[in-house]
Amino acid sequence: MDLGIRGRKAIVNGGSAGMGRGSVLALAREGAEVYVSARGEERLVSACEEITRETGASVTPVVADHSTDEGREKILSACPEPDILVGTCAPPETTGDYRAITVDDWKANLDVTLLSPVQFMQATIDGMVERGWGRIVNIATGAAKYPTQIRILSGAPRAALVNYTVAVSKIVAKHNVMINNILPGMHHTAAIHDRYTALAEQNGTTYEEEVQKFVKAWRIPAGKFGDADDVGAFVALFCSEYANFLTGQSLVIDGGITNSTF
Ligand SMILES: NC(=O)c1ccc[n+]([C@@H]2O[C@H](COP(=O)([O-])OP(=O)(O)OC[C@H]3O[C@@H](n4cnc5c(N)ncnc54)[C@H](OP(=O)(O)O)[C@@H]3O)[C@@H](O)[C@H]2O)c1
Repeated sequence: MDLGIRGRKAIVNGGSAGMGRGSVLALAREGAEVYVSARGEERLVSACEEITRETGASVTPVVADHSTDEGREKILSACPEPDILVGTCAPPETTGDYRAITVDDWKANLDVTLLSPVQFMQATIDGMVERGWGRIVNIATGAAKYPTQIRILSGAPRAALVNYTVAVSKIVAKHNVMINNILPGMHHTAAIHDRYTALAEQNGTTYEEEVQKFVKAWRIPAGKFGDADDVGAFVALFCSEYANFLTGQSLVIDGGITNSTF
């Protein structure tokens, strides 16, 4: 299926690994011209080179921290008029006792999970409106809709992000600027690989055994974690020509872990 975005300019913030990288790959496969940010240069440059080799698309690395003013300036000067904006980051640390969370923990997480995507939207939406075409997707977390103590620092700021995006989506939908969110569950990404490898070392088990423990404890109906590329494919669809009547939605991709009223 041709998603109709060949030649569209895309910024993907947080795209050197995990679901951000899966999104870069899916957009590049569709012929978008992608500008990818991450803080670590080596992993970013090699991800962009690999994706260019595989897809033939133009994929440009921008080494920057998207939660800072300087980082945002650098990203937006590399791609001042994006048609597509995708944003994500590493999962915030899981939280134990809610009383142990400090104000500094909140501030650091709010910068990267909420204020950065909000500032990117503010900087890019007017141009999309003028050009009569825009797609924005935030890759946030299922915990935005399904709160749980271990995800307080991840879920609460993303609930605010989802609320904000829905409010803004209603203002700009008539200009063919569509804003949606993807809310993932548990997926094999760089962050999860590091976390579960460390757990396996600590417990004398394997990565896969630790994953299966989580799958059992949280009763994931699919019986496994998802892959980063599964999410990337949906991001590309939400950024496609076909998404011209889809806005203010937050799609949960979690193997069935959560329950809602359908
Ligand atoms: N993986 C899961 O199972 C899971 C579960 C629920 C929700 N999520 C959510 O899904 C999203 C993606 O998670 P993931 O597991 O794919 O993460 P990941 O594998 O750790 O990848 C995160 C990417 O973002 C980049 N990044 C992080 N902070 C950045 C910053 N300030 N500026 C620029 N780039 C930055 C990282 O590169 P650098 O470190 O080099 O900057 C990397 O490319 C997050 O919102 C997370 O909360 C993930």
